[in-house]
Amino acid sequence: MKISGSTVLLTGASGGIGSAIARQLARRGVNLILVSRDREKLNALAAELRTVTSQVLPLAGDIAEAGGPARLMAEAIRHAGAIDILVNCAGVQNFGFFAEEAPADTASLFNVNAVGPMTLINAALPHMLQRKTGQIVNVGSVFGSIGFPCFASYSASKFALRGFSEALRRELAGTGIGVTYVAPRFTKTAFNRSPVTRMANILKMNQDEPETVAASVIAAIERNGRDSYLGWPEKLFVRINSILPRLVDQALMKQVHAMRPFAAKRGS
Ligand SMILES: NC(=O)c1ccc[n+]([C@@H]2O[C@H](COP(=O)([O-])OP(=O)(O)OC[C@H]3O[C@@H](n4cnc5c(N)ncnc54)[C@H](OP(=O)(O)O)[C@@H]3O)[C@@H](O)[C@H]2O)c1
Repeated sequence: MKISGSTVLLTGASGGIGSAIARQLARRGVNLILVSRDREKLNALAAELRTVTSQVLPLAGDIAEAGGPARLMAEAIRHAGAIDILVNCAGVQNFGFFAEEAPADTASLFNVNAVGPMTLINAALPHMLQRKTGQIVNVGSVFGSIGFPCFASYSASKFALRGFSEALRRELAGTGIGVTYVAPRFTKTAFNRSPVTRMANILKMNQDEPETVAASVIAAIERNGRDSYLGWPEKLFVRINSILPRLVDQALMKQVHAMRPFAAKRGS
């Protein structure tokens, strides 16, 4: 999709990857609707971006709240008139042994990572179907294709988002609305709290800058991409895991031992 001059609603705009996407889109002359819960951060980002692109609307709201996504979408459409591209970038992470995770934390993670984006898309679709054009972009994770120990609920929520993206893409074929799923690997943002970052450094995980991920998300939008996995060899591991999961079992089971001190509650 041609992005210059389009209107993009971006969730997770106050975050590391989201704000990098917002800055790069602004430089391409995109009209932006920036969503997150943090009104102050959104206002500051909007003030910065208004020096670069003409229309920037900070829209504070919680995508996990009942009625939140529908309210946000209605307000965005009322303000902008049309939404061309919806980028679901908001996300949260639970790290640790699943036996120690509170059920309320599992539910709230699913609400942000899977139910929230789906409900926002549900609110956007009548508008996009009527216009016969639109692009939906879901930011997933490599962990949405490789079930990763100590990130069980997070992996599950991204598997859900990936499956939903695939099904919806097939359902919408021929309507003029595309669905793109982008799966980053470890990215240097505040998303990864200190135990996760220390563990990633010790395990020598490959790490990307948010600006690199943002550029890949925008490239995927421009080519109407289907699924985009970021990083080598991660995209190869995704393939191997789908064909020969036992091979990946061996590698990851070894890693769990190294992860144990970081994942245990007393280690964080
Ligand atoms: N960083 C990584 O290593 C990595 C790797 C692979 C995939 N990803 C994915 O990339 C996306 C962005 O990650 P990031 O690194 O930019 O994370 P981040 O810096 O922690 O930003 C997360 C964003 O989500 C927003 N958010 C969280 N809960 C929300 C809610 N209930 N309602 C509305 N907004 C909410 C946050 O805003 P407020 O808190 O202000 O609401 C913030 O803008 C996520 O979907 C993540 O799963 C990240």
